[in-house]
Amino acid sequence: MSLKKEIDRRRTFGIVSHPDAGKTTLTEKLLLFGGAIHVAGAVKSNKIKRSATSDFMEIERQRGISVSTSVMGFDYKHYKVNILDTPGHQDFQEDTYRTLTAVDSVIIVIDAAKGVEPQTERLMNVCRMRKTPVIVFINKMDRPSRDPFMLLDEIEKQLMIKVRPLSWPINSGPGFKGVYNIWEKNLNLFSANIQYIEEAIHFKDIDSPELEKYIDKDADLLREELELVNGVYPEFDVKDYLKGDIAPVFFGSALYNFGVQELLDCFVQIAPTPRKRETEEREVSPYEEKFTGFVFKIHANMDPNHRDRIAFLKICSGKFERNKPYLHVRHGKQLKFSSPTAFMADKKSIIDEAFPGDIVGLHDTGNFKIGDTLTEGEKIRYKGIPSFSPELFRYIENADPMKSKQLSKGIDQLMDEGVAQLFTSQMNGRKIIGTVGALQFEVIEYRLLHEYGAKCRYEPLQLYKACWVESDDPKALIEFKKRKMQKMAVDKHGRDVFLADSKFILDMAQQDFKNIRFHFTSEF
Ligand code: G4P
Repeated sequence: MSLKKEIDRRRTFGIVSHPDAGKTTLTEKLLLFGGAIHVAGAVKSNKIKRSATSDFMEIERQRGISVSTSVMGFDYKHYKVNILDTPGHQDFQEDTYRTLTAVDSVIIVIDAAKGVEPQTERLMNVCRMRKTPVIVFINKMDRPSRDPFMLLDEIEKQLMIKVRPLSWPINSGPGFKGVYNIWEKNLNLFSANIQYIEEAIHFKDIDSPELEKYIDKDADLLREELELVNGVYPEFDVKDYLKGDIAPVFFGSALYNFGVQELLDCFVQIAPTPRKRETEEREVSPYEEKFTGFVFKIHANMDPNHRDRIAFLKICSGKFERNKPYLHVRHGKQLKFSSPTAFMADKKSIIDEAFPGDIVGLHDTGNFKIGDTLTEGEKIRYKGIPSFSPELFRYIENADPMKSKQLSKGIDQLMDEGVAQLFTSQMNGRKIIGTVGALQFEVIEYRLLHEYGAKCRYEPLQLYKACWVESDDPKALIEFKKRKMQKMAVDKHGRDVFLADSKFILDMAQQDFKNIRFHFTSEF
């Protein structure tokens, strides 16, 4: 198959949701359609749940929380679908944000009874920043749900995106009869007994009295609501979706595998193929002959007996080949990979080649940092893997003087993986760990001990936010740093960071120092 054909059949996306909205269940059902797993049925078996989410880290098993991101690839019709799973726990949001840099589109799952929840909003903000095309799946229609028009209103207001329903529910909860697929013009009847996919009934003309045969007195209401839908919402235009301006919406029940195939069928048709990407130097098209890619995630401890890591590489252009030397741009050295792995649902396999849109796992002994670029020789660096301003801080100290080397190596590597951010006080050289979620402190402590044999101790540090500061006026920056000396730190790249004690102090600093720019992500 030609490079173009390989690229055009790829769909790489992430599923995101507020915890419990049904992301895992939907992922499983999509994997079922792809034949990547083989257990059909409405009742989720825990076994599938375990394999559908990555479960590589000991700490994850202990806590029962998915702290990592995994990749699941499968073939569906003539498409190659790559799902990038994202951690549901909000303390691992940064991990999710980084994963969103590697996807070409996103499916947002919303619980029909709960509507938009806080994490949905935060995730949508990231999608909006990047103009990522979004499809919404309103889940759990088998349960009593909110009015669909109200849900759509809420999505438009809170997620700040225009919506266009492409399917429409007929009631919800015990009275749920199914959905009318506006996209395909057919009726799908719901039955809680049906364990697998049911035949859709073609209904080009919704006014046909045949409709009554299937949904009885609900037919009139459906007709009315569809008329309203078509009156209120603009015609669906794929171009607007691809620009990130409008989100098509589907209704269904992932648990009962209902509405999932319509979602998947529409998704593979409209979702973007691998997109162009910005590097510091130029824009790269996936169709370029030469391979390029970047590392968006580093996963440690796949095998607890070895301290090995897997770097997740997103292929951005050309063909990636096993055993071919590639330039690690940051190190300026050539690297070859003898066992690159692809992820197919719950199993990994060594691959000989991969194409734009694919994610390849590279065995890593410490060469990679998040954001590293690999090429066939060109010195370009991919953009777009920001760190976010952390909001929780602690001093980190060595609790075992015999192990100081191990501790600094461990901290270094964990920071490269993006577990947290390390700052060094410009005042006294003390090391400060900054995180987005509280759980990371425990993760770091646990992993330092178990993977590096190093013991750390934390000391509390009350701060509001860390932000990067810069100025076009070097004198102004020097003055600012002098005035704020006690609160200045450097990040691991040596950039100036201001540690604000409170929102008030940050606001005042912004007011008093007009020549200073304050940044809340590391990408500026
Ligand atoms: P998450 O990954 O977004 O956190 O959600 P997950 O799929 O784990 O689903 C959360 C709970 O919601 C699960 O129930 C799941 O079975 C249920 N669920 C998902 N989709 C639907 C749906 O369409 N209809 C209904 N009625 N329930 C749904 P649980 O009891 O917490 O877990 P489990 O014991 O079933 O695994």
